[in-house]
Amino acid sequence: MDKKLKERNLSIQTKFIHDGSLRSPNNETSEAIYLTSGYVYSSAEEAEARFNGEIDGYIYSRYSNPNLSMLQTKLCEMEGAQAARLTASGMAAVFWSLFTNVQAGDHIVAADAIFGSCLSILKDILPNYGIEVTIVRATNIEAWKQAIKKNTKVFFFETPTNPMLEILDIETISNIAKENEIKVIIDNVFATPLRQRPLELGADIVIYSATKHIDGQGRCLGGVILGEAEFIENKLHDYLKHTGPALSPFNAWVMMKGLETLSVRTDRQIENANLIAEYLKTLSGVSQVIYPGHNDHPQFEITQKQMIGGGPLVTFKINGGKEAAFNFLNKLEIVKISNNLGDAKSLITHPSTTTHRSLTSDEKAVLGITDNTLRLSVGLEEVSDIIDDLNFAISVVK
Ligand SMILES: Cc1ncc(COP(=O)(O)O)c(C=O)c1O
Repeated sequence: MDKKLKERNLSIQTKFIHDGSLRSPNNETSEAIYLTSGYVYSSAEEAEARFNGEIDGYIYSRYSNPNLSMLQTKLCEMEGAQAARLTASGMAAVFWSLFTNVQAGDHIVAADAIFGSCLSILKDILPNYGIEVTIVRATNIEAWKQAIKKNTKVFFFETPTNPMLEILDIETISNIAKENEIKVIIDNVFATPLRQRPLELGADIVIYSATKHIDGQGRCLGGVILGEAEFIENKLHDYLKHTGPALSPFNAWVMMKGLETLSVRTDRQIENANLIAEYLKTLSGVSQVIYPGHNDHPQFEITQKQMIGGGPLVTFKINGGKEAAFNFLNKLEIVKISNNLGDAKSLITHPSTTTHRSLTSDEKAVLGITDNTLRLSVGLEEVSDIIDDLNFAISVVK
């Protein structure tokens, strides 16, 4: 951002649209795409100096590229973080944020209500490298306290949770962590950026699947890790540099463009989700509606404390079992069946047979994921059209 703008008291939204843009000599308004793997040096001396870190400049797009720099700066402005790094997917962000904070002999405490692949990292991958993991009931604060051991280094959770939209108290869990010198890593995907600010509530690291609302139109995969400069620049950077889960410059450009409309998109999606949840409650074919922004949600008070709005996802249960759920899904025309979320298109998921299919039936029962549970990621269509679509499908199943 130019100096004059920096000195003004601008809102976050205005700042991250302008901050971090690197213009070529053509002075384009929409930032250029730097699809290059390498960079040339004007002399051997310059190459040596760049490698020695004596002069600034890009070296190789596995770890530095103008599109990635721009996106990182904008994301830091958005999240209020000192530093950020990007990865090729949200799962790479989950893995590397965890892996760089532990070593053999350390212990992680994680919530049971998290995305299925995150559970696989914690239960099936990390233990192979001498890392102990305890999975706790997400909303049970006592369980987090009791799981702490001398070697506990990380607390990991998401809120709202996927797919049952439970709300965890970020501030309370972060305080427990701080008292025990434990780092808190939060997957902030379901809340969406700007509508929940975990770093201000005590978290140390925030991660996103940028594939979701940051892109916002279902085009590219990407991941983000945000936190203190000391960790991100001195430790994480080297791990990513040498192992190479890099985001492509093209994807970084798409996500940067996504950021410009993030706030208006998520505002509308949250508004639509609220109305849809209200409407679903009036349907006799729907047995339960879970929406964190409604006062019948079990953790509504925490939602009000830490989120702006109730989020862009609604989870509901229809009467009947798997057959009724599948019939309902197959009758939808506007709302599309997909395991993805955070798109301009409304997307609906049957978690039990897709995203959470690897959970045992006991694990599903604890979380409340039943055969008639459906997770709706609300899009940007006219809300009355989404409601008509849901209404028609439910009337056929009844
Ligand atoms: C909460 C959450 N975290 C992480 C991920 C993984 O993101 P990606 O698909 O970009 O790897 C997902 C994907 O659905 C998710 O829902």
